[in-house]
Amino acid sequence: MTIAPTAPGTDQAHDAAPPVHHAPRGFSDRFALGVTRLLRFGADTFFAKRYGHRAIVLETVAAVPGMVGATVTHLQCLRRMVDDDGWIRTLMEEAENERMHLMTFVAMARPTAFERLVILLAQWIFYVGFFLLYLVSKRTAHRLVGYFEEEAVLSYTLYLAEIDAGRSPNVAAPEIAKQYWELAADATLRDVVLVVRADEAHHRDVNHGLASQLDGQPPDSAHEAPYSQHVERRRPNA
Ligand SMILES: [Fe+2]
Ligand SMILES: [Fe+2]
Repeated sequence: MTIAPTAPGTDQAHDAAPPVHHAPRGFSDRFALGVTRLLRFGADTFFAKRYGHRAIVLETVAAVPGMVGATVTHLQCLRRMVDDDGWIRTLMEEAENERMHLMTFVAMARPTAFERLVILLAQWIFYVGFFLLYLVSKRTAHRLVGYFEEEAVLSYTLYLAEIDAGRSPNVAAPEIAKQYWELAADATLRDVVLVVRADEAHHRDVNHGLASQLDGQPPDSAHEAPYSQHVERRRPNA
């Protein structure tokens, strides 16, 4: 996996999440990066610095790829009668983790009626689009998620800067977040954003890594950003 540090200057003062960027190689990577930049521009225009609302809407999208990837991989493994090398569970865990990001942010802010409409439309378009992309090129699909996650890390770093500057109130962490990440009783939004950003950095490296493996490179999990400590979600009596 060729993950190289980006140019200095991107915010590193907020609890050191060194920004990393996968340098695109070939059409598949460039396509994924181009789509990501386009969507980033759209999100920046629509949300500006409303990070709480931005997180809610984008997390509804972020939780889709893992489940699509797990479903398609599951079906492929059944048809081909081959092992999944653990990828199905990894991708399902990613989807659940992203859904927990959503549950956390929605406990602190409510989406507007218009944002709910955007969420509805985005889910239809993104689910179908990503599903088709996954069927056509699994490698491009995971590269795309890798680039999405690069942007997520950047967005949460900017959110931290807003909190530290006092422009976003550092409210108490919601109960669901304290339980999921096993945070301290007095944890705040800032603590939540730090663990969410760690999750995004991990997803970034996992997805870039899988795309690179599909491109013929050897697995390289040693260089993945560490995943946050969190509990597994299960039914209460299961
Ligand atoms: Fe997320
Ligand atoms: Fe993510």
